[in-house]
Amino acid sequence: MYSVVNFNINGYHYKFPVIYGTCYDKAINISKLRESTGFITFDPGFKNTGMTKSSISFIDGEKGELLYRGYPIEQIIKKCSFIETSYLILNGELPDTAQLKSFSERIKKFNHLHKEMNQILDHIPNFYHPMGILSSLTYILDAFIDCLQEEDMYIHLLAKLPMLAALTYRKKVGGPPTHPDHHLDYISNLLKMFFSVPNQSYEHNPIIADALNKLLILHADHEQNCSTTTVRLLGSAHAGLFSSISAGMTALWGRLHGGANQAVIEMLEDILKSGGNIKKWIEKAKNKKDPFRLMGFGHRIYKNFDPRAKIAKQVAENVIQELGISDPILELAKNLEENALRDSYFIEKKLYPNIDFYSGIIYQAIGIPKDMFTVMFALGRLPGWMAHWKEMKLNRDPIGRPRQIYIGYKKRNIKK
Ligand code: SDX
Repeated sequence: MYSVVNFNINGYHYKFPVIYGTCYDKAINISKLRESTGFITFDPGFKNTGMTKSSISFIDGEKGELLYRGYPIEQIIKKCSFIETSYLILNGELPDTAQLKSFSERIKKFNHLHKEMNQILDHIPNFYHPMGILSSLTYILDAFIDCLQEEDMYIHLLAKLPMLAALTYRKKVGGPPTHPDHHLDYISNLLKMFFSVPNQSYEHNPIIADALNKLLILHADHEQNCSTTTVRLLGSAHAGLFSSISAGMTALWGRLHGGANQAVIEMLEDILKSGGNIKKWIEKAKNKKDPFRLMGFGHRIYKNFDPRAKIAKQVAENVIQELGISDPILELAKNLEENALRDSYFIEKKLYPNIDFYSGIIYQAIGIPKDMFTVMFALGRLPGWMAHWKEMKLNRDPIGRPRQIYIGYKKRNIKK
């Protein structure tokens, strides 16, 4: 293990310290680089740049491993609920029985919205994308919540975001707003707020509840991804929690990020509609002149299987079998994965299915419409976003302000 690295620039020697993480990830600490050498680094997309130290989640992209506060995702998915996982991600340890009971009760206590939220929703156009609606409502939520304790802000958001998501869904399908049912657990309450019909009794389906619980856990945190970095960046300027989370949602909405789950299903439907010729579409994805990419494939960090995709594939198969659905999209997805993983282009570029490749198939099977998929991703990622915002404040991270290499005009005078 090195403690320093030596740079030799134009005959001058510089030493920079090396930082090691607990899982042996390592970094050259260049925080004094410009001051000592006059150079900055250049790293579009921050592919090689660590922006902070964090203890929330860890990804080993080469091995295809994901840890939440040290616990492998495969164990969490088997042994924990989404609410236990949220507690773990926010507080660093799994809750004991008393802590879990109090956490769940505090969430239920904040399970209400100011009446003006519904009035605001009425003025948002029906045709607006649900992610735009959710992000706007989250932003405005700030106006109605006065928190004495910072911890209460996190509980408010955990309690209220499912309500905003359900309101968004029911606006889309034209249903009346529903109210939370405090007799139900978090996931069952969420599903009831989505799907209950006023004049009919609501049938709880444990298969669907279990699938959604697993999906939200799979999305709960993922290091410094684009939307989490957005949340941390806004927080570093001392923007409020709600506006930072709202901005994170907007980043997540992008098709290359959380919007990919909707794009995957649209892609699979297009492949089916065009006759299901998988080889043709794989060639399209490889053709540099064609902007088409295999949505749900590839990842900045995973150069092996995304462990979440493996679990999501299993959940998709179980849900479809248990619900007795015959879904040609799942069969097509499995075929496409098989063919792509045999293709030298995908093998050489280490492109594997990511979480978004199978998650949409599960959402669709449990009745969530395509343009609501990223809303569900946001519900899952909420604990991670909040934990990173909290950690950024505890770390007292400096305001995020990257440098640039300027390639515009040199100084010149206005001639007039
Ligand atoms: C998420 O960061 C996270 O953790 C995100 C996330 C989370 O939980 O927060 O995991 C959630 O966003 C998952 C990713 C969802 N997006 C998609 O599925 C969209 C399709 N995938 C790609 O757009 C792409 O793979 C990214 C955006 C995911 C990653 O992009 P990178 O790391 O910038 O890689 P790149 O674009 O530089 O690609 C490297 C090479 C390129 O070829 P060359 O220029 O080297 O010849 O691989 C090719 C790319 O053209 N490539 C693909 C491809 N993905 C990369 N070619 C075809 N199809 C693809 N999907």
